[in-house]
Amino acid sequence: MIDIHTHILPGLDDGASNERDAIDMARAASAEGITTIVATPHHANGKYMNFAADVREHADGLNVRLAQAGIPISIVPGQEIRVHDDLLDAWGRGELLTLAGSRYVMLEMPSSRIPHYMSSLIHELHVMKLRPIIAHPERNAEVVEHPERLEELIELGAYGQVTTHSLLGGFGKKIEQASWRLMKQGSIHIVSSDAHHVERRGFRLREAHSAVNRVMGEEWSEYFKGNAEAVLADKPFGEQPPVQEKSGGVFRKFMAGLLKK
Ligand SMILES: [Fe+2]
Repeated sequence: MIDIHTHILPGLDDGASNERDAIDMARAASAEGITTIVATPHHANGKYMNFAADVREHADGLNVRLAQAGIPISIVPGQEIRVHDDLLDAWGRGELLTLAGSRYVMLEMPSSRIPHYMSSLIHELHVMKLRPIIAHPERNAEVVEHPERLEELIELGAYGQVTTHSLLGGFGKKIEQASWRLMKQGSIHIVSSDAHHVERRGFRLREAHSAVNRVMGEEWSEYFKGNAEAVLADKPFGEQPPVQEKSGGVFRKFMAGLLKK
């Protein structure tokens, strides 16, 4: 499996704080069946700045250490870019990275709202032939209240990435429900961990795929796995399976169970 959203590079943000943490994370990822990890340190989020050249250098360094430790994980560079009104200029200055050298770029919105310039930013990136992936929209308060506003961004050319912990209830019931609702709405195109630390926030990618499999069917978990591979291969995402609950109403019963929790 491929994980396109992680904070594994040591000492760059609130993820792995040192090399030991990073190696522990890589070992845990490998045990789950993950083979390639896109390192996406926070950039321009008001606290952390991790410019393209620095991220590349740190990814190279960690690959050397993992090879020495015999852990079969490949780290490729990326960024989780907080949207800001200087973003297009920052792109022009060469400060930003796409995911794994592809045309996919990971954007993070503030958690409280959708910025007013989000539509025009998505449009501009689309014109630049970039493919913006919105990181964990299920954790954005405005999206939770108005899921149709995410749909509008998707129509403009954005994609949605749900976080494994959200799907599995790690951020509470409200976010868990929102995650599955967005999945059913067809606004989610990729599942990844946003892993920060083995114990505090690990990967849980295998577990999340099992949940998707159980609730929405195997074609959906295959679709999400295929899209993670498409990011690495810089290919378009696959065609979304029909948005319908599994036969026997598994999805409906699952959602009803969540609402009762
Ligand atoms: Fe993240």
